[in-house]
Amino acid sequence: MRPLALAAVAATLISQASHADPARIAFPADYPDKHVLYGIHNRPDNGQVRYLYANPIAAEGAKRAGSLPNGSVLVMVVYKAKVDAAGKPVEAADGTWERGDFLQYSLMEKQAGWGDAFPENIRNGDWNYTVYTPDKVNKTDTKEEPCLICHKALPDADYVLSYDELVVKVRGAVPSVVAGAPATAPGNAERGKTLFTRCTNCHTADASGKHKVGPNLHGIVGRKIASADGFRYSPVLVAQGEAWNEARLDQWLAGPQSVAKGTKMVFPGWPSGQDRADVIAFLKTLAK
Ligand code: HEC
Ligand code: HEC
Repeated sequence: MRPLALAAVAATLISQASHADPARIAFPADYPDKHVLYGIHNRPDNGQVRYLYANPIAAEGAKRAGSLPNGSVLVMVVYKAKVDAAGKPVEAADGTWERGDFLQYSLMEKQAGWGDAFPENIRNGDWNYTVYTPDKVNKTDTKEEPCLICHKALPDADYVLSYDELVVKVRGAVPSVVAGAPATAPGNAERGKTLFTRCTNCHTADASGKHKVGPNLHGIVGRKIASADGFRYSPVLVAQGEAWNEARLDQWLAGPQSVAKGTKMVFPGWPSGQDRADVIAFLKTLAK
């Protein structure tokens, strides 16, 4: 959909929203002591670094397949990256950016029936969203619709962009998937673009060349494996040599661990051959 059309749809949806109330998300009293820190993200697109925490209910729930239980709270702590004299983010030894100004907490919480505040086409199950200031004051004027519309793209990950990382953190291993039916139709790049949302937690694919948790994927089809400038790959991926072609990408997306055991891409894989074919068709549109 073109951005203009999307904006129009969003405006209509927002006017239909009934009694959304960010005030009902209380700041978790047991944060940060009982919370699990499961991810730290550099965000080169906006110069932020974000710390991702799960409350005990969410952390426990993520040990099992299926949606997270009611009472789950995810807290994303947002900082400006600290920059050096040249304006470049300062990197810690592990590659994450050092924290500068503390900007805000972004929260999502689910409780039974909370989805009712929104029309079905933007509802994220029973998740609600809000923003707290660094002093833990709820910004009750937070508009939840943009949050819902963005997170809506991931129904199979319970609307949690960083779901794969949470799962790996609490289960201690990347779950394996059983390969399902192969693709029956040629890859559909349009559908693949939507599916790629599952990857955007960790990858950009535009021509910016900027890395997140994973390397930038612009021009990946035909690109030498593990060759993006400025990204620290795991040795097992570097050892592959060769270049990415469609067949290799298909195997990688069915189970990265089975292609390169120990790779730091913590993604279980997609059972559906059609999903893989569609996302590869999308990646092909990003040729260099
Ligand atoms: C433009 C799309 C977009 C919008 C709009 C958006 N988010 Fe997110 N959100 C993301 C992405 C991408 C992540 C993964 C973390 C990161 O930024 O690297 C994320 C992560 C989160 C997380 C951590 C759990 C998870 O899903 O990974 C919380 C909590 C969260 N967002 C809250 C909010 C709130 C509250 C709003 C609205 C005020 C909001 N988000 C709006 C894209 C969006
Ligand atoms: C939780 C974070 C995460 C998610 C989700 C993720 N990736 Fe990755 N990806 C990585 C990391 C980290 C690497 C680098 C792996 C290494 O060095 O071992 C990587 C590497 C890759 C590579 C190889 C890049 C190169 O330069 O050789 C491809 C291709 C890729 N990912 C595609 C995808 C696609 C497509 C998706 C969505 C279906 C996806 N990834 C989801 C983190 C992620």
